[in-house]
Amino acid sequence: MTTQDQQFFDTFTLVMGGLVAVAVAILILALFQGGDSQRDARMADPAYQAKVLERIRPLGRVRLPGDEAEAAQAAVTVTAAQPVATVRTGAQVYNEACVACHGNGIGGAPKLGDTGAWGARIAQGLPVIQGHALEGYTGAQGYMPPKGGRLDMSDEEILGAVDYMLSESS
Ligand code: HEC
Repeated sequence: MTTQDQQFFDTFTLVMGGLVAVAVAILILALFQGGDSQRDARMADPAYQAKVLERIRPLGRVRLPGDEAEAAQAAVTVTAAQPVATVRTGAQVYNEACVACHGNGIGGAPKLGDTGAWGARIAQGLPVIQGHALEGYTGAQGYMPPKGGRLDMSDEEILGAVDYMLSESS
């Protein structure tokens, strides 16, 4: 190696070394800064705070006389209100959905309690009558809409109303 090469090599090594040192310094600074800035965010995280509160939770608590209400409250487990699935009775369905036509025989509908009008229909057999009530049909007297137009009601509810109408009309 010539002296020139040697000189270049020395300078090059020095510069590279300096650059590496600067890079490492920046890295350390960045780690330090970054770690510190995220710390506040970590501490403020509700999930983290809940964990801390759980860890430092006192094991027991002294309740003095007069604290019973609070103790009872703590013991109550809160259960969310469950919606109650209600099934309407036959009479309810009739009064909601069928009475408009079957109450007064509107449009040729057999009236509730009219044993004469119902007698011939009952003679067809229950399955036919039930099918007509659920699916609707057009007969000699007029048009009976499917489920009396109340498609939101269940088959069970409509059949309950049929039972009710038949029991009131025979
Ligand atoms: C828009 C008027 C109307 C409404 C509402 C209505 N009906 Fe009818 N329904 C009729 C008519 C009209 C007939 C007779 C059709 C015929 O035989 O010509 C009939 C006939 C019937 C029959 C006899 C079927 C047969 O085979 O003879 C049943 C059962 C019946 N309806 C059940 C119901 C029920 C249950 C409801 C309520 C959920 C209801 N209807 C609501 C008009 C109605």
